[in-house]
Parts: sequence; C-alpha cells; structure tokens
Amino acid sequence: MTSRARQIEFFASLDAEEEIERPRHYPRPVRFLLEEKLRRALGLLGRVTSTDALCLCGGSGMDAEWLARLGIQPTILDLSPDALSRARERARRHGFKVRLVRGDAACLPFGDRSIDMALVHDGLHHLDAPYSALDEMARVARHELVVMEPARAVLTRLAVALGLATDIEPAGNVVRRLDASSARARIRVHGWRHVYWARDLVYYQPWTFTLYRLANRKPAFAAFTLLYRLLNLTIGRLGNSLKVAARR
Ligand SMILES: C[S@@+](CC[C@H](N)C(=O)[O-])C[C@H]1O[C@@H](n2cnc3c(N)ncnc32)[C@H](O)[C@@H]1O
Repeated sequence: MTSRARQIEFFASLDAEEEIERPRHYPRPVRFLLEEKLRRALGLLGRVTSTDALCLCGGSGMDAEWLARLGIQPTILDLSPDALSRARERARRHGFKVRLVRGDAACLPFGDRSIDMALVHDGLHHLDAPYSALDEMARVARHELVVMEPARAVLTRLAVALGLATDIEPAGNVVRRLDASSARARIRVHGWRHVYWARDLVYYQPWTFTLYRLANRKPAFAAFTLLYRLLNLTIGRLGNSLKVAARR
C-alpha cells in the first residue's frame, strides 16, 4: 500500500462527529494551544493582507474555519474524500463558505500566484517529500505563506526518546518533520524575500486530554497559560512546533 493510500484509509476511519466539531470539545488548554499556533504563525507576518487562502492538507476544515473567522475566504485541498465531506458539513453547521478540492499537496492543481495565501497545519509531515509541497505552496501563493508543522528539533528528539512522541504517524507512515533552516532556504529559492520562522513547545496528545481538563476552569487555566508562556520564553526555541511565514 502506498503512503497516500494509507493516509486515505486512515482519515476515512476517523470519527466524523469529532472531526467536524474539533476543537470545540477539546479541553480549554488544548484549544488555547491550537489557536496559539495560528496566532504565532500569523504574528510572524505582522499584518496579514490576504483575502483568500488555500489550506493544504486541510482535512475536516479546522484551519479553514479559523481563516474564515478572520475574514479570509478558504479553499481546502485534501487527499481524503471523507475529510472533505466532513469539512463541507462543518462549514454548513458553523456558517462559513469554503471551496473544496480533492488533490495532492505535492502537485497542486492551481496556477502560479493564483491565490493570496497558502497555509498548512499538520499536513506536510504526512508526505513522502514535504519540501516538494513547500515548493508548490511557494508557486501558487501570491502574497503570503504560512506553515505550522512538527519540527526537527532537540526537544522533539528528546520526546521521541522518552516515548512521548513517535516517528511513525497513526496511518503508519514515517513522520517527516521539517527543519527550520531547510524550509526557509527552500522558500527563498522561489524568490520569496521575507521568510520568518519560530519554534516553540506545543504538546497535546489524546492521552494528555484528561490532564488538560484539570485546567479547564479559570484560575487553573490562567496558571497554565502563564506557565506555557514562561516555558516558551526559556526553552521554546528548542521546541517541537515549527512556524514559518513568508511574504514576497
Ligand atoms: C492531521 S490532518 C490535519 C488536518 C488539518 N490541517 C487540521 O489541522 O485539522 C492531515 C491531513 O492531511 C491530508 N493529507 C495527507 N497527505 C496528503 C497529500 N499528499 N495531499 C493532500 N492532503 C494530504 C490527510 O488526508 C489529512 O486530512
């Protein structure tokens, strides 16, 4: 079975309701961590100018919903027909417009500079050649690129060694984490002049949800966010979560 076929099979097996609604039912700290990823990645750009965006590996539409809430018209591209139909249902339920395209991130069915922004969240690490998908993002985007992916980093290696993370993702493929300077260099090759990156610590796995729920209420949640920001100020740059943002 090819890695793509494994992706399609795995993403067909997920619980539709959970996927359509995520992250609404997640513990508050996990929702915070997810939104913090987007805030930090877009923050690298300063002011976002895009009015439409392609969400590569957009799955069941969580990223698209984020963008729609910011007033950016999303298009989702994904390999999985099941994910796309869940995204359609999410958009219907939660009242936003989305365009759905079935396709492969490694070979985008869009023209050069045909959409303002190309954005990916937790998608490229599923691909056999994630940097080729970066090439594609750099080709189709007119103004802005946003990448939020697992990082090749010291703390990631440590997490794998401690059994807190794995090098094989749930579909059975190798996790291809991105290296910050390689990603930056790859985007610059395409003539993007301003490429910024940041790494921080973001950890949530299904087994952590019980723990995170303990911080759902206000005082504990405030303590969690404070601790999180302190951790990131100190060791965040060694962290497992890479954000890259670029402007032409
Ligand atoms: C972990 S999910 C992330 C979905 C979404 N970005 C989110 O964060 O909610 C990864 C998605 O990537 C899609 N995917 C994997 N390989 C792909 C490829 N080569 N081209 C397009 N989509 C792909 C999967 O079908 C899945 O929907």
